[in-house]
Amino acid sequence: MAKVAILGFGVVGSGVAEVLRRNGPHIDEKIHSAVELKYILDVRDFPNSPFAPYVVHDFAQIEGDPEVDIVVETIGGATIAREFTERALRAGKSVVTSNKELVAEHGYELMRLAQEHGASYLYEASVGGGIPIIRPLKQCLAANEITEICGILNGTTNYILTRMIRAGLPFGEALKEAQANGYAEQDPTADIEGHDACRKICILASLAFGRHVYPAQAPTEGISGVALADVAYAESCGRKIKLLGRAIRGTDGKVRAFVAPHLVDGENPLAGVEDVFNAITVKGNAIGDVMFYGRGAGKLPTASAVVADVMEAARSMDRPKYLDWGPGGEDVAVPPDDVASAWYVRAEASAEQVRAAFPDASFLARAGAPAGETAFLTAGTLTRPALDGKLTALTPRSVFRILTD
Ligand code: HSE
Repeated sequence: MAKVAILGFGVVGSGVAEVLRRNGPHIDEKIHSAVELKYILDVRDFPNSPFAPYVVHDFAQIEGDPEVDIVVETIGGATIAREFTERALRAGKSVVTSNKELVAEHGYELMRLAQEHGASYLYEASVGGGIPIIRPLKQCLAANEITEICGILNGTTNYILTRMIRAGLPFGEALKEAQANGYAEQDPTADIEGHDACRKICILASLAFGRHVYPAQAPTEGISGVALADVAYAESCGRKIKLLGRAIRGTDGKVRAFVAPHLVDGENPLAGVEDVFNAITVKGNAIGDVMFYGRGAGKLPTASAVVADVMEAARSMDRPKYLDWGPGGEDVAVPPDDVASAWYVRAEASAEQVRAAFPDASFLARAGAPAGETAFLTAGTLTRPALDGKLTALTPRSVFRILTD
């Protein structure tokens, strides 16, 4: 028998309670042991909820209860959530989390702390919502040397881009829809500006390459600069704009991790990933390319991954699970300045000015383009510093990489 406390009764926390209740007999049967909800910690009361009797307001009650084996942290952020996670681990309780910020910023220390106290620290739900990716990356692909991870890692921005592409909806309206569906973070800036995707690619990079890659080491650009004009130009050349998180291990062994909007060829499977769905492609030297796909955000998909971790923690109480990595450092990751790409550029410039800097550029057209707007694709690949050197005579409005394979 394992007793569980949920910290935070928001979208994910309430989903976890619901899945534990709805699938209780099935869960118990699968792990040959009972998993029982004992507490829900929140500052609020939920008098009309069937879970009202479980609600407590003082973490010390959970920390001091020897019956609680597993703490589910769905508070989010890296302050209170960090404090409660550390206190739970120090009390020898396993912690399961969906909190990508905490794992991306402090995962290494928390995993060490878990080991010191004979507990598990599991975080499958922190990346890709309901998509199994953490355990497959660490365990099923363990025989590979991984060279690159590339993914659509944020459901909210993918939803917004899909609505812009398919319905020509303005950004603000598409964001409101995503928020109404419970996909967006409390502060949608983290989604829109790419910070959420950055945290996720850092977690995947740390896991795949074995050393902690911090968000501060991964240059990040979100989708607030993507205009309907860019969507139209991308469509004119058979491509779609997608916000990608990428982590590449260079021949020097260092990681280049970054998040930015890309133009993705319509034939690439990532172009077909729409709405709140996420997809992650992993390149391994034995398996080649493998892709993981599914619902990347939302109450029950995320709860599905959290509860699977609860089951794993319950099953392995005598032998805690470590899905860990080594310490970070300045030598672990470098900016992607040497990662060459073909590029899409929309600029305030004449075709002549563009031709002078990019003689082999392919020009793009869209209906309703204002005079003086020119959009083009570069012919060959260039690093970003080399591209910037050529853009000095133009006034670029959007500059996006083109995903080539
Ligand atoms: N806000 C996140 C997203 C939730 O939209 O992907 C899941 O991590």
